[in-house]
Amino acid sequence: MKPVNILAIETSCDETAAAVVVNGRTVLSNIISSQVPLHTMYGGVVPEIASRKHVEKICPVINEALKQAGMTYDDITAIAVTYGPGLVGSLLVGLSAAKSIAYATGKPLIGVHHIEGHVAANYVSHPDLEPPFMSLIVSGGHSHIVIVKDYGEFEIIGRTHDDAAGEAFDKVARAIGLGYPGGPKIDKLAREGNCNAIAFPRAHIEDCPYDFSFSGVKSAVLNYLNQEQMAGREVNKADVAASFQEAVVDVLAARTVAAAKEYGFKQVVISGGVACNSALRYKAQEFCDKEGIKLYYPEPILCTDNAVMIGCAAYYEYIRGVRDGLDLNAIPNLKIGERK
Ligand code: KG4
Ligand code: ZN
Repeated sequence: MKPVNILAIETSCDETAAAVVVNGRTVLSNIISSQVPLHTMYGGVVPEIASRKHVEKICPVINEALKQAGMTYDDITAIAVTYGPGLVGSLLVGLSAAKSIAYATGKPLIGVHHIEGHVAANYVSHPDLEPPFMSLIVSGGHSHIVIVKDYGEFEIIGRTHDDAAGEAFDKVARAIGLGYPGGPKIDKLAREGNCNAIAFPRAHIEDCPYDFSFSGVKSAVLNYLNQEQMAGREVNKADVAASFQEAVVDVLAARTVAAAKEYGFKQVVISGGVACNSALRYKAQEFCDKEGIKLYYPEPILCTDNAVMIGCAAYYEYIRGVRDGLDLNAIPNLKIGERK
């Protein structure tokens, strides 16, 4: 069979990314132009600045992805693009580029769900991995426990009632003066701290064993910082980072592995930006080992936003016959498992 070469585009937040992926699993190029330094001075992503930067970068990034893959549009089978969830202005830049290419070349267009892309990153990092499995999806905007029944088939069994895990990392990092993006900075600082120094709370939601709530632990950190400041005591930031991180990753790992056990899955897959977190990986490994479950997570470059994951998810859509029209629109609050 002829290989399926997908040119994938991802612009849902502050990374302008393009990639060429063959048959969903082989990466020929992975170009990511990060805007992090641009947004750092504002303490977070400024949507208007993000979309303007995407406009500037999108063509060079796509050209570079083709060049590194050693391909022209003639070699490409289909064009894939993230259409949601994400920042609407950012999504529209990637979508307009993808639609223009599809129209000009006559190649099929495939819209991809950003979060489903995050899960698919694991298929690239682990060529042996196949659904079904239990999955924890943790990013700046999402914290879900999901049963991945098949490629592109999801059932949500746990969700956050307030902040996403990554959002909590970013907010706590700001409060202790680490700046944006907070997750990697807390991860690094926590290595110098004692994770049992401060007992931050772990929220349980009645009758929803796989749901999360992170606003309580975030407020507890803010209260702790205030209380120490009022008492004139010096705060040990590394201890705060380590204790906060422990409270979050303990809950994430324990609930995911408990869900896998209850539903009888022997594979647990974590994905999204927070899947980079070293303490989460360690904790999840520890719990999985105890239950004889195999744990998967992508390599760090495929955990945070990239277009490889979009090219991978698109391949499985492509072989199922999914094709989109040029009327494909951005859906900023697209839900997991929801179709366009
Ligand atoms: O998946 P992603 O790149 O973008 C979204 O789709 O949201 O995730 C970004 C999030 C940010 O909140 C960032 O702080 C968090 O992932 N993150 C981390 C780490 N690396 C990135 N959180 C904890 N530890 C990390 N090492
Ligand atoms: Zn993401």
